[in-house]
Amino acid sequence: INRPLYMSRPVTLGEFIIEKQKDFPYASGELSQLLSSIRLASKIVNREINRAGLADILGSVGQQNIQGETQMKLDVYANEVFINALKARGLVCGLASEENDDFIAFDEELHKDSKYVVLIDPLDGSSNIDVNVSVGTIFSIYRRLSAPGTKVTLEDFLQPGHKQVAAGYVVYGSSTMLVYTTGHGVNGFTLDPSLGVFLLSHENIKMPKSGTIYSINEGNYVKFPEGVKKYIKYCQESDPATKRPYTSRYIGSLVSDFHRNMLKGGIYIYPQGTNAPNGKLRLLYECNPLAFIAEQAGGLATDGYSRILDIQPTELHQRVPYFVGSADMVAKAMEFMNMYK
Ligand code: AHG
Ligand code: MN
Ligand code: MN
Ligand code: MN
Repeated sequence: INRPLYMSRPVTLGEFIIEKQKDFPYASGELSQLLSSIRLASKIVNREINRAGLADILGSVGQQNIQGETQMKLDVYANEVFINALKARGLVCGLASEENDDFIAFDEELHKDSKYVVLIDPLDGSSNIDVNVSVGTIFSIYRRLSAPGTKVTLEDFLQPGHKQVAAGYVVYGSSTMLVYTTGHGVNGFTLDPSLGVFLLSHENIKMPKSGTIYSINEGNYVKFPEGVKKYIKYCQESDPATKRPYTSRYIGSLVSDFHRNMLKGGIYIYPQGTNAPNGKLRLLYECNPLAFIAEQAGGLATDGYSRILDIQPTELHQRVPYFVGSADMVAKAMEFMNMYK
């Protein structure tokens, strides 16, 4: 029999994080502690999601966030859990979230030497929460630019994605997984609910160079740019040599769509449309962290023309058209974007 990895060589996320500290010879273990706070928060959120249908935590809270979206109870809950877990330790000096209008400065005595800022999509896939479909959390970590001891500034949060020191996501799916990178490859951990620990299950993930899955909300088709329309046509045409037609898969939870495409090979597109000139997805909370992971796994992430991680952000809740996934597929989609400019 094939013994699962965790039986032959069980490694917990906690052990792995400490082991990998040596990738940062001058770090004092603070980033490791920060990742441990995220690990704890994600377990708490996971527990609540698992019993959401029983715990009166489904549905909306009856107000909108700054994105103009109806906030769900779990959006608010997950946001609070992550904020509290990160604030309780002196590693992070500020946090920006999809669910908050402005960034939050952590400025108690405990945070006076804190070097990191966190940007977070606490609950990704809001529309799927109430129907028991996989949702997620996405996080992104930067070193602050301003001097420790001073108040965190907007500029600390508006850094291009290539400055990320770590990024990751959690999928609360048929099993719960935490996937992250610190710029030395991508590793995935599956939560064993009976032990309450994440175990290394997907070591050094590499995204297939090409695949057969395309993921896009085709309900918006008429508003898509011509290049995207032509690329969709290309995906649907028959050509055995390139394994077309491709398969269309769209969950509507970016994290889950991304995760599937990373493991199987595919492309995810959320393009610009006439009503949404920059698409829907948020550069800082969604696109940058997944772009960092995609590149670390050998994939690509662009806005259709250029690299996501090179964009200099100008505002917290900035949106950007997003093309992410297997390198050859994203390159092909970009060819179409350039051809039909
Ligand atoms: P969030 O739930 O964090 O607001 O994100 C929703 C995003 C993303 O998860 C998903 O891929 C996309 O919105 C779906 O949008 P459409 O329903 O427009 O396809
Ligand atoms: Mn939202
Ligand atoms: Mn989201
Ligand atoms: Mn969200």
